[in-house]
Amino acid sequence: MVNISGVTKVAGIFGAPVAHSLSPAMHNAAFAALQLPYVYVPFHVRQEDLPAAAAAVRALRMAGVNVTVPLKEAVVPLLDCLDDTAAACGAVNTVVNREGTLTGYNTDTGGFLDALRLEAGFDPQGKKVVILGAGGAARAVAAALLEGNAAEIVVLNRTSERAQTLAADLQRRRNTGQTVLFAVPLTGNLQDHLPGAGLVVNTLSVSFRREGEWLVDLSPAAGALFFDLRYGAAADDYLALADKLSSPALDGLAMLLYQGVRAFRLFTGHEPPLEVMRRALLAAARRQK
Ligand code: ATR
Repeated sequence: MVNISGVTKVAGIFGAPVAHSLSPAMHNAAFAALQLPYVYVPFHVRQEDLPAAAAAVRALRMAGVNVTVPLKEAVVPLLDCLDDTAAACGAVNTVVNREGTLTGYNTDTGGFLDALRLEAGFDPQGKKVVILGAGGAARAVAAALLEGNAAEIVVLNRTSERAQTLAADLQRRRNTGQTVLFAVPLTGNLQDHLPGAGLVVNTLSVSFRREGEWLVDLSPAAGALFFDLRYGAAADDYLALADKLSSPALDGLAMLLYQGVRAFRLFTGHEPPLEVMRRALLAAARRQK
């Protein structure tokens, strides 16, 4: 249990909805394990209340907050400074309060790369990667893969203009010239685009199987690492497909864990207890089922 006293520091998460968040369980378990005087609380913050909530982080001298959907971009202009990754992504998921100065970070990017490397032994450097989807989550993944020096990123999306915009934006804002980006319509036949992929990341907000049919045929990418950014029931279909194709797979809990590890380090300055955080996260996810 968290021991609250007169010197307890408050961290938390801003989002809407936020009740489903697994981050409080993960961070509070870590604070308790290291006996740090912190508590981590969920705050349901609507978009229109975000300026007041950011001001409250300063006024209440909170240690910092994580920021989740739909506030990751809206919070950017409310901060005093951004680290390089957050600036390049145009999105923040971690805010640290240092004596009233709010700095925005994006630990989703590093968390995604950590999950690949530490949970699946996959280094994107020099690899071909396919991203399904072109929304906010796809943007964060593409930015991470550019940082990881992937050789080729193929963005597949139903609305192909959105994939083109994503590819063009990242090409302009982030690319050091080592990565080639392609935008391709998400259609039935992807035979030209999937072979040779080392990683296929699903960021789609819809189920990957309808009436027994897969949304698209990913069999030409069999053997690649399949990563679904979601977890729980939402990721079941994609993970089942990976299993059917005898391919290794990761779900969004891996990324959630490592973005949290990075955020914990920023909030407290202490080395995070990885296995404590993992156990708390998995237990909270099981309770949610
Ligand atoms: P997030 O911020 O989580 O990425 P988003 O921006 O709403 O969420 O993106 C959702 C993604 O799922 C998009 O790539 C979207 O495709 P479009 O850009 O064409 O809308 C994709 N998506 C949603 N419903 C879909 C469907 N029925 N079939 C295929 N793709 C779908």
